[in-house]
Amino acid sequence: MAIQIKTLDQLKLMRKAGLVVGETLILIREAIKEGVTTNDLNEIAVKNLAANKAKPNFLNYHGYPAVICASVNDEIVHGIPNDRPIKNGDIVSIDFGAIIEGWHGDSAFSAICGTADPEDQKLLDVCEESMWQGIAAGKVGAKLTDISYAIEQYTNSQGTYGILREYGGHGIGTEMHQEPHVLNFGPAGMGPELKAGMALAIEPMITRGTHKTRVLDDEWTVVSQDGSRGAHFEQSFALLPDGKPFVLTAIDGGSEKLSRLGIEISALLS
Ligand code: MF3
Ligand code: CO
Repeated sequence: MAIQIKTLDQLKLMRKAGLVVGETLILIREAIKEGVTTNDLNEIAVKNLAANKAKPNFLNYHGYPAVICASVNDEIVHGIPNDRPIKNGDIVSIDFGAIIEGWHGDSAFSAICGTADPEDQKLLDVCEESMWQGIAAGKVGAKLTDISYAIEQYTNSQGTYGILREYGGHGIGTEMHQEPHVLNFGPAGMGPELKAGMALAIEPMITRGTHKTRVLDDEWTVVSQDGSRGAHFEQSFALLPDGKPFVLTAIDGGSEKLSRLGIEISALLS
């Protein structure tokens, strides 16, 4: 299957979906407090989907039972929301997606409840910045794995982190998961050439220890094998017909973070 190329009108719909995702994640981030449960956070997403006439893409995806993923501490991704209260110092990783008129958005962040262990905070900062470095490398005319390489190089330049191998980013459009798979490590210069009209979800997942994971008996929750804490950040971005990027799931289109890296975002979706 070829990589889906979107028209400007289709990317406008993806921006609508992306904004619902981005705005919902802001509401969830503000709600993360000691004693709140991840089921409470899921409920915020359910309500905000309805308020925006958007559909969930996680619910029933291969039987997944919620509209968000909520992964705490050594849970890195795909945690199922539950009734355990969040505690001071917990790392809470929230992944969420939405569909508008058939077009998907997908984004995730990690945050620390209350008082942060400085090494946990650094883990999150490195993971988030590696995502922006990856997006910045995703230029028209570049190769797919230039993104992978940028993520890995940045991460390794900041310390010793485990970069998950079995999970990565993906194309996104009329399905949440499309080709190509986007590795978060590996050599540059490989894979398809990036072209205007492509949309990719970039999502590094790292731990303070091993890259090795296992899946819990619930058949979803991915934890680190050594119990080390993890982080996960994700944004969906597109390359517009003018050749410039736009981060569909970021409220500002990615302008602040990308301008810092010397990249101007497209004005076509503003
Ligand atoms: N949003 C995740 C990803 O980034 C997938 C979530 S799996 C689901 O690819 F089952 F929860 F939908
Ligand atoms: Co994703």
